[in-house]
Amino acid sequence: MNYDKKTVKDIDVKGKKVLLRCDFNVPQDKTTGAITDDKRIVAALPTIRYLLEQGAAVIACSHLGKPKGEWKESLSLAPVAARLSELLGQDVIFAKDIIGADAKAKAAALQPGQIMLLENLRFDKGEEKNDPAFAKALADLAEIYVSDAFGTVHRAHASTAGVAAYLPAVSGFLIGRELEIMGNALADPKRPLVAILGGAKVSSKIGVINNLLDIADTIIVGGGMTYTFIKALGGSVGTSLLEPDWLDYCRDMMAKAKEKGVKFLLPADTLCAAEFSADAKPELVDTMAIPEGRMGMDIGPKTIQEFSDAVKGAGTVIWNGPMGVFEFPAFAEGTRAMAKALAETDAITIVGGGDSAAAVTQLGYADKMTHISTGGGASLEFLEGKELPGVACLLDK
Ligand code: 3PG
Repeated sequence: MNYDKKTVKDIDVKGKKVLLRCDFNVPQDKTTGAITDDKRIVAALPTIRYLLEQGAAVIACSHLGKPKGEWKESLSLAPVAARLSELLGQDVIFAKDIIGADAKAKAAALQPGQIMLLENLRFDKGEEKNDPAFAKALADLAEIYVSDAFGTVHRAHASTAGVAAYLPAVSGFLIGRELEIMGNALADPKRPLVAILGGAKVSSKIGVINNLLDIADTIIVGGGMTYTFIKALGGSVGTSLLEPDWLDYCRDMMAKAKEKGVKFLLPADTLCAAEFSADAKPELVDTMAIPEGRMGMDIGPKTIQEFSDAVKGAGTVIWNGPMGVFEFPAFAEGTRAMAKALAETDAITIVGGGDSAAAVTQLGYADKMTHISTGGGASLEFLEGKELPGVACLLDK
């Protein structure tokens, strides 16, 4: 996969109409519809500001939620247009449709330095089907395509990939940075490369483990997925999360790591509890011997020390998935300690999107990381080494 793609800096956008794919898939309050976190809108501002300053007319577009081709008022992008307008300090013209009469008229009248936002792309069935006619109609609104929606680069949709067949396609700053930092970490990492993998399920990290076994020097496993590995080693896991169908896979992966000389670290000690609750009383046990009726909820102090030492000596650290149930304060220490270890190391530190990004932010270490990915599923597929349609479609440098 080539990550060396042209960016907005490599083309002349002055006086041009630019179709800008953003990821404005923001969380909303279920009853009021109010945007509860505008991080994704804020993340798009540098590219938008740059394009406007360069004299482009910006036709922004995004999906919101999963309306599945139905027109749903609750998933209209109108509140996003309002918030974007506040953040930019300028009017954001809102189109009532996507490729309909309103969008066409507003796009045609748009002047350099002005910005408009199309209605939710997924209101049209053509978007997720990557329908060429829908992609062409989107492309017809503009002269250049800029993609800055890293969160959706793993989707082969009309606005994330299809449209690039009809327009010169480059990345914005957000995708540019993701490709530069994560791409480098995979293609030519500063070594040793330490990968920390956590989260609930082994089954959701298969692709990542497979890919990183070929690249990393050390793989650290924590979180709920630990216990399937422990069981595969013959340990007892009590009522901990377990995926029996993946025991052989875990054995194979540990054997492969040995064969390749990749250090494979599992938690030596575990904080377990009788029930999955914030009030549960933590008990410290050996991870290989979790008692009957107890479930693993976090890594223990010995493990924290061992994992932190591995991070200290790293050249690059990639972290994906929490070490324990960090939403419960009594079981947040493992995740917090790893965030602290990443914050203190001189290594390049990359945090995958989704839960790990939320944990690092919630625990107050976000500004200490080299990079926190803005993609959830997208950053996972990136780490799997998969070809990402939204990246592959951009022009090579
Ligand atoms: C995300 O929230 O991860 C992206 O916006 C992609 O959304 P999707 O999973 O609905 O495609």
